[in-house]
Amino acid sequence: MRYARVRLLADVKALTAPCRCSVTTTTQPVEAIQSTGGNNLMDIPGPGGIYNLPYFGFRLHFKPFSKYDMRLISEKYEAWKNKYGPIVRVRLGKPWGLYLFDPDDIEKVFRSDNKHPERLTLPLLSVYEKRQKIPPSLANANGEDWYAMRGPTQKIMLRPKAVTKYAPKISAIADDFVDSLKNSDRLENLPFKLMEYSAEGVGMLCFNTRLGCITSDNTVTPLMDYTKEYLDHLGNHLYSMIPTYMLYKSKFYKEFETAANFLYSEADKHINKALADLKQASENGLEHESNLLLDLLSTPGLTPAQVQRTITDVFIGGIDSTANTLTFLLFNLANNPDKQERLFQDIKEHVPKKGEIQEDTINKMPYLKACLKESFRTLFPIAGGTLRILDKDITLKGYNIPKGTPMQLCSGTICRDEQYFPQNDKFIPERWMRGEARTDVNPFAHLPFGFGPRKCIGQRFAEQEVYICAAKLLRNYRVVLPPGVTDIPYYYCIFATPKEPASFLLEKRQD
Ligand code: HEM
Repeated sequence: MRYARVRLLADVKALTAPCRCSVTTTTQPVEAIQSTGGNNLMDIPGPGGIYNLPYFGFRLHFKPFSKYDMRLISEKYEAWKNKYGPIVRVRLGKPWGLYLFDPDDIEKVFRSDNKHPERLTLPLLSVYEKRQKIPPSLANANGEDWYAMRGPTQKIMLRPKAVTKYAPKISAIADDFVDSLKNSDRLENLPFKLMEYSAEGVGMLCFNTRLGCITSDNTVTPLMDYTKEYLDHLGNHLYSMIPTYMLYKSKFYKEFETAANFLYSEADKHINKALADLKQASENGLEHESNLLLDLLSTPGLTPAQVQRTITDVFIGGIDSTANTLTFLLFNLANNPDKQERLFQDIKEHVPKKGEIQEDTINKMPYLKACLKESFRTLFPIAGGTLRILDKDITLKGYNIPKGTPMQLCSGTICRDEQYFPQNDKFIPERWMRGEARTDVNPFAHLPFGFGPRKCIGQRFAEQEVYICAAKLLRNYRVVLPPGVTDIPYYYCIFATPKEPASFLLEKRQD
């Protein structure tokens, strides 16, 4: 995959010059020298002039005012890093924000988190929640509100054994998904087609039920359509010049509201059905199998409204993310047939063409895990990385950063940095294999799921879903790029998403 990076690096190379400040890279940019030499927030190098205007300054960095597309904001991050160095100060809306490109600084920030790590909220979602008079969702809450929902959910979803019981159920879903391809020699309309699998998987996690999303004719159901619409709007609103949706129910807002209402009512429908089943089971003295919804409902201290918001977040958060991740993983394997072949030999040894996969089967396939890590590295799944706002001052690179400063932790840029990952434009899963090409990777250089008490709550589940689907698909088919395809152009809409529907050719495995 090409990332339009080479040209960008050439552009910024001309701007760089040796540095006087105490940063760790060998050459540092001219702008760094222009800092006042002090050690406060405002002394940190970064864009100046009109870019420092509150509210509008940030927007001026992007089209139509510059060549950078906001939906590929990671390219701008890289340009900032190359121009200003490993710590960059940028005017956001009203506040100043920092962009961090050194894994040691990222570690320092993560380790300074308190028990309620804070991110910026999504204004569109906050406006929706306020208008609907519903509590903030897990991903959009901060402080005690967030902790009240996160604590119990985390105990259920992130404990090491949490996903073990789901493996056989998810492999049955993967078998159905592979079956749905049997009349076709193509895997097309991605990531929509893969959303059939991920929606079915997240239905199993949340409600222990099959939603019936898998089709043999690539039907795009309203659930998938509205999930995309919801995330598209959540991604796009961050880039709007004038957020009219805050003042009145604009067309943009109404589209978001329709999608959100649909998804919440869909989640509600399943919640109500799960509750009715539970009631019936207990009336008949029958055992019921636990699931996330029932576990949360039986957690003291969580209100039904909070349970509903958490479940809906997990439900929505789990559909698009997994499908896009699988799309780019399969692309990398199709684009690197030698790597796919090596992976196939592992899969053939451990995975049946049809039938159960257990959690420990996955643990026997380190190369599969290495392929996913490397795929996340070559195309970071979320725009740049996560964000933190600390409740205490911190010193980074000798600068005193006051509490409350939003800090973007730019893992995506680090993952594409030759300094940390030699041959960074190549897909080399071996770099994650012990005893092979593995170099000592700073663990804070590659954190696709974030870190600490606020890291992705769906991580274990997401990884399991991806491993099982990839293993089943590759056990049955060789995945090949259609003639002439060398790339999947993408943009960020919360998650990295193909710009156009992608497709792969499928060649049936005889062995
Ligand atoms: C497969 C790819 C996925 C990636 C790369 C991913 C990545 C992330 C990241 C980076 C965060 C922010 C972490 C932080 O701030 O430290 C996050 C949060 C979150 N993720 Fe994921 N995620 C994925 C899949 C999922 C799945 C499958 C689910 C649900 C089953 C999920 C549910 C959530 C939720 C609810 C949050 C908000 C957590 C909170 O704020 O407490 N994610 N994710």
